[in-house]
Amino acid sequence: MLRLDKYISNATDLSRSEVKRYIKYGDITIDDEPATNPAQKVSGSETICIDGSAILAPTHRYFMLNKPAGVVSATKDNTNTTALDLIYEHRSAELQIAGRLDIDTTGLLLITDDGQWNHRLTSPRSDCQKIYLVTLGVPISPDYQDKLANGVWLEGEKHPCLPATMEVIDERTVLLSIAEGKYHQVKRMFAALGNHVEALHRTQVGDIVLDETLEPGDYRPLTEAEVASILTGGS
Ligand code: URA
Repeated sequence: MLRLDKYISNATDLSRSEVKRYIKYGDITIDDEPATNPAQKVSGSETICIDGSAILAPTHRYFMLNKPAGVVSATKDNTNTTALDLIYEHRSAELQIAGRLDIDTTGLLLITDDGQWNHRLTSPRSDCQKIYLVTLGVPISPDYQDKLANGVWLEGEKHPCLPATMEVIDERTVLLSIAEGKYHQVKRMFAALGNHVEALHRTQVGDIVLDETLEPGDYRPLTEAEVASILTGGS
């Protein structure tokens, strides 16, 4: 059950104070009766109309952002631009970041107001694969594939990483696929292999692939299939 003003605000582009004004002027009806109390609780089973037009029940929102370097994966920051500063949406304060990237990492960042979906994606037990394009400081060695497949041991960790796979693009560029999301994981994995990451770009999370038409800083809503791919397990 949700307050009427919040329910309508979630379902439309109206702010709660605008909804209150509509209610005051008798322009909102619940099952054909004029609504009088913005705090009235509604379940979503009612027919709620504004100026005679029924509104659709509110739904969760899901976006992909092509995160530029220099932007923090946070909702608030006193110094840097945040990922949410780039999302020009109604009720953006309700949005959360699903799987953070470092300030210098670019690429696919998922943003939603659906806490369950976020948890499905980011919980430590999630086996969702993330793919990163990694530019390395020095050429890779032939033993990397095996070491990654056996689980690299990160400094300060009690357990090795889960097996990871690496596709070689050239001697200093690889596509790394990992199932976890430990703090600075990719950078620490290559540090453990005696290398260092010069640039990191996330291209894929589960079955959701960064849309190549998005310029850095641009975002778009996820398609229904992209949203569902996380709920059904994806890759
Ligand atoms: N691994 C890192 O080291 N940094 C990121 O931003 C993401 C994964």
